[in-house]
Amino acid sequence: MNSIKQRLDAQLAQPQLTKSGAICHFIGVEGLDRLQLENIIDKAMGYFDGKGRLINTDELAGKTVMNLFFENSTRTRTTFEAAQKRLGANVLNLDIARSSTNKGETLRDTLWNLEAMSADMFVVRHSASGAAHFMASQVTPNVAIINAGDGWHAHPTQAMLDMLTIHREYCLKHSTTFDKLSVAIIGDIKHSRVARSDISALQTLGVKDIRVIAPKTLLPKGIERYGVSVFNKMEEGLAGVDIIIGLRIQNERIGSPLLPSTSEYFKHYGITDTRVALAKPDALVMHPGPMNRGVEIASNVADGEQSVILKQVNNGIAVRMAVMAMAMRGQESLRNLA
Ligand code: NCD
Repeated sequence: MNSIKQRLDAQLAQPQLTKSGAICHFIGVEGLDRLQLENIIDKAMGYFDGKGRLINTDELAGKTVMNLFFENSTRTRTTFEAAQKRLGANVLNLDIARSSTNKGETLRDTLWNLEAMSADMFVVRHSASGAAHFMASQVTPNVAIINAGDGWHAHPTQAMLDMLTIHREYCLKHSTTFDKLSVAIIGDIKHSRVARSDISALQTLGVKDIRVIAPKTLLPKGIERYGVSVFNKMEEGLAGVDIIIGLRIQNERIGSPLLPSTSEYFKHYGITDTRVALAKPDALVMHPGPMNRGVEIASNVADGEQSVILKQVNNGIAVRMAVMAMAMRGQESLRNLA
């Protein structure tokens, strides 16, 4: 980047980056370049010891992190908390069900009140797309916002834990790189923030062959513009892929005009061992969870040798440690400049 104006414009468009390109909030993978994503993967790799066990550090010692989950979550919320504790942070979980947002308080007022309690970082999951971006625009300088999923829009830490899993479990084991991979994402692409963030991260890391496999009713309009190839049949889309990513079918959509029945869906789009056999012999089977066994994935595949679904959960701790430590360091560099 060659002019100060260009740098300032870039920062307005990208509140998650400092002027020197360091991460200071983590809102989305869009706008981050390949080196920045690789830095997150490298940093996360550094949180495993020689035996592959997670380590503890003091990178967030003395910092207060608040978890604001306005939507349900098991894995994301717990792995964020585990990551915060491994980084030595003081952790506060806001009990949203009993909070004043239920009495009509705005998100902005909730944020400002919690800030007054000396928070250094907020991890937020919200049903409104753009909630994390909005909070980053409202928050006091030096407080970091981490997006733990906003509406249908983005789930950047899920995307990065998926990238770390592909890197550790496939690229390193097969001495290959992202640019040589074929990746299939199956299911409810239309309503999935995981699919959007995964596609973006995979493209930035150089994956050229990204396939989405879904019935037409579960594909967003204009999906071709995402730079992916679209398949309506599993048998065609899965041929020769390295990575299979299943998505949750929202039960609330079953029986609606979008999906006739769970058994019908499983018949056409279920990830079964016969279908996994169409992919490369050591292809990875991934799923962000929560999964519906017998709907989008057969139980024996979910528990089978090629499944890395529980490894994804463990990698989630390392990736969340990495982005929180990086964002806090980015905020500190802003403080030092002020
Ligand atoms: C996903 C989410 O919440 O977006 N799950 C997760 O974070 N592990 C996917 C989903 O709910 O289907």
